[in-house]
Amino acid sequence: MSSVTICVGNLADLPDLGCREFSWGDTPVPHRGFLVRRGSDLVAYRNLCPHGGRPLNWQQDKFLDRGKRVILCTGHGAEFEIATGECLRGPCPGQSLAALPVRVVEGLIYVDVG
Ligand code: FES
Repeated sequence: MSSVTICVGNLADLPDLGCREFSWGDTPVPHRGFLVRRGSDLVAYRNLCPHGGRPLNWQQDKFLDRGKRVILCTGHGAEFEIATGECLRGPCPGQSLAALPVRVVEGLIYVDVG
């Protein structure tokens, strides 16, 4: 099976503790993912909560709690560690967000979506 890599924009346009949603695929309902930048760290996850199987956010590019400490699912309040996607609190302990490999090349962000 071949992998698919997509470009999701410039790193310079993503501020510290900023998030960016992206989508891919040409099915009627595209796949969705999101980025979170924290300092020099950049992570990407599928936008799918392991608890309810629904997108985590209800506003575009809003994935963190008010204090910007954790990723928050607006469904039932699950909190996930930014660096690992592990559920820290909420209805899905022991489960994690599905991480997507991400890298930056010459200032552009590339995500391997499988
Ligand atoms: S759907 Fe995310 S916590 Fe329930």
